[in-house]
Amino acid sequence: MTSLRLRDSQPTKTRTDVLVVAAAEAEQGAQLLGIGARVATAFGREFARTLGALGFSGKQGEVAKLPSSGAVRAKLVVVVGVGDEAGGPEALRRAAGAGVRAALAGKTAEAVSVAVALPCRDERDVQAVCEGALLGAYTFDRYRSAAATNQAADIAVLTDAAGSKTSKAALETAQVVARAVARARDWVNTPPRDLTPKAFADAVAAVDLPARTTLTVWDEKRLAAERCGGILGVGQGSSNPPRLVRLHYKPRRAVTHLALVGKGITYDSGGLSLKTMAGAMTMKCDMAGAAAAITATYAIAELGLPIEVSCLAAMAENLPSGTATRPGDVLTMRNGRTVEVLNTDAEGRLVLADALVLADEAEADVVIDVATLTGACVVALGDRTAGVLSNDDPLRDALQAAARRAGEEVWPLPIPDEMKSKVTSSSIADLRQHNPDTSGGALYAAAFLREFSGGRRWAHLDIAGPAFHEGDPYGYVNKGGTGVGVRTLVRLAQDLADG
Ligand code: BES
Ligand code: MN
Ligand code: ZN
Repeated sequence: MTSLRLRDSQPTKTRTDVLVVAAAEAEQGAQLLGIGARVATAFGREFARTLGALGFSGKQGEVAKLPSSGAVRAKLVVVVGVGDEAGGPEALRRAAGAGVRAALAGKTAEAVSVAVALPCRDERDVQAVCEGALLGAYTFDRYRSAAATNQAADIAVLTDAAGSKTSKAALETAQVVARAVARARDWVNTPPRDLTPKAFADAVAAVDLPARTTLTVWDEKRLAAERCGGILGVGQGSSNPPRLVRLHYKPRRAVTHLALVGKGITYDSGGLSLKTMAGAMTMKCDMAGAAAAITATYAIAELGLPIEVSCLAAMAENLPSGTATRPGDVLTMRNGRTVEVLNTDAEGRLVLADALVLADEAEADVVIDVATLTGACVVALGDRTAGVLSNDDPLRDALQAAARRAGEEVWPLPIPDEMKSKVTSSSIADLRQHNPDTSGGALYAAAFLREFSGGRRWAHLDIAGPAFHEGDPYGYVNKGGTGVGVRTLVRLAQDLADG
């Protein structure tokens, strides 16, 4: 990953290829903010007029590029609009991301050095700018013969408080978090032929284990011995057999035990209930929940938070074949409950059921599952907002608050009473996996998962919308895997640690 450091250096005097500054929208035209304001002075009176001539007004997401012509030491100045001057850390995170992306746009032979001079009021702002800059520099070029953009040689975040302890801690946290998000993005972006359940488990095992962390992988034989009928039932249509990955972080003095459960469908064709062609195109992203749970667990361990974490990632490939599970089949889950499968495309809840039972067996105090679970959630909340559904209102609120602080969009959905009778209405088994009346599909899915929570404090994050970004890049979000969920989960663990 790109190297990042803090520097206490004047933006006008910093020798760098590109200098990124922020501007707010004001009545007299765009106004440069914080330490970046010195850049306007260095350019002189023409500066405001030049921005105006470029049509730049400081709206959020707007970007203007100006050759410095010797006015400052940087070769190029990138001005990023933040809209409202009073925007919080997330506005800074986005501005840093958009600025670094603009700085790296194009292809020159050499790596580009970038200095970011945004208005940081405190260490929260410093962390946000560092995260935004690192994530904005993220690229996935493994499958190209040549990189599509310039690469960042190094990034310097300019701040007067570069030497302070709190700034350094903020930088370190940002690096751990951004590395986790980037790793989740890499895994989501990897084509499904190269990220089979076994390859995914191997990739997890290839990460350096932080202190006091252990990793266990169950292959298909072990899954059978352990009676994980949901994971096996979904995986049996593919010649790439399923895996269950368990990461356990046990710090010396844990204040609580958190279970992070992830849906790891490495490819979701729908199985015999085959998807449409359009629906199948992005389904390599169906392991994004597992990616988030795993990388967040690594981050929590790297930060040394006093939270015990049991991460359970259920990995399987959902394909149609002569050995695939059929609509009408009955599967027996790890806790002995039987499930009538009626739509093999509702596979996520089947693999999660076994993993939730394992979280219950681990006696976690709080269980959170993360899953690209339903298209219905995308219909309800759009493609930038995750849904949170829970059997515990305070936990649901805590997750939403953590998401807000981390700069992720999470919104609550209910699990109405009538869903309980629907999920238990199978004419042949204990539970009915799918309701042909698809209204409230995200709620039904959560009601089904709740049956496997063992009555523990449990919340479910449906990230089907924000896990994969198909539109143009914006802020620190590139095309493809977004790594959504990681920052929320790490922030929640920090909040739990702070009590
Ligand atoms: N992986 C999909 C959900 C999904 C949809 C993720 C869009 C990302 C973007 C999930 O396994 C699925 O197919 N869900 C079905 C459930 C239905 C059959 C009850 C859906 O949403 O259509
Ligand atoms: Mn599906
Ligand atoms: Zn799926």
